[in-house]
Amino acid sequence: MYIRSEQPADVDTIRALTRAAFADAPHSSQTEAAIVDALRDAGALTLSLIAEDGGKILGHVAFSPVTVGGDAGWYGLGPVSVWPDNQGKGIGQALIRLGLDALRGMGAKGCVLIGDPAYYSRFDFVADPAVTYAGLPPQYVQRLAFGDAVPRGEIVYHAGFEAS
Ligand SMILES: CC(C)(COP(=O)(O)OP(=O)(O)OC[C@H]1O[C@@H](n2cnc3c(N)ncnc32)[C@H](O)[C@@H]1OP(=O)(O)O)[C@@H](O)C(=O)NCCC(=O)NCCS
Repeated sequence: MYIRSEQPADVDTIRALTRAAFADAPHSSQTEAAIVDALRDAGALTLSLIAEDGGKILGHVAFSPVTVGGDAGWYGLGPVSVWPDNQGKGIGQALIRLGLDALRGMGAKGCVLIGDPAYYSRFDFVADPAVTYAGLPPQYVQRLAFGDAVPRGEIVYHAGFEAS
């Protein structure tokens, strides 16, 4: 398996993969595929990474710019998707680790996400009550600071993310 950036020919597969991954997810709004498309259309897919093996796309992760309390330089992780029959094999973790490394290499201040702490704590994401999003319970709003800057305030995703 290797990981690479998306190419134009991958777009339809990414959409189908994202729909399939979230189809039975209890917390899903079923808008995740549209979010990826809207971010791409808006030029706000900072990173769109594909895990591929033998020519088959196995998983995908998106990162897009956010502000936290009005501060730029932060990125939002998600959606992240692995085909249901390939979940639990380390594909999601590999995509996320490479994406976080790429953000560090770009000089990002850090990353935030909305998700299950049981999964994301392995990447050193922590729930921080000082970082908020749309009134969600604080344990689902997580952040990872790459340097000394500490995020504080409401996360605002790119308009493409919210439009979906
Ligand atoms: C979440 C997802 C991207 C993880 O990718 P993956 O390749 O299946 O996961 P990995 O093999 O890297 O990691 C497996 C571990 O993650 C855990 N895990 C997988 N999905 C999880 C979830 N939704 N919540 C909490 N833990 C999860 C597994 O229990 C396993 O834990 P362990 O290592 O302690 O045994 C993938 O399962 C998926 O596409 N799920 C449906 C869509 C979704 O929920 N996306 C994330 C939204 S926040």
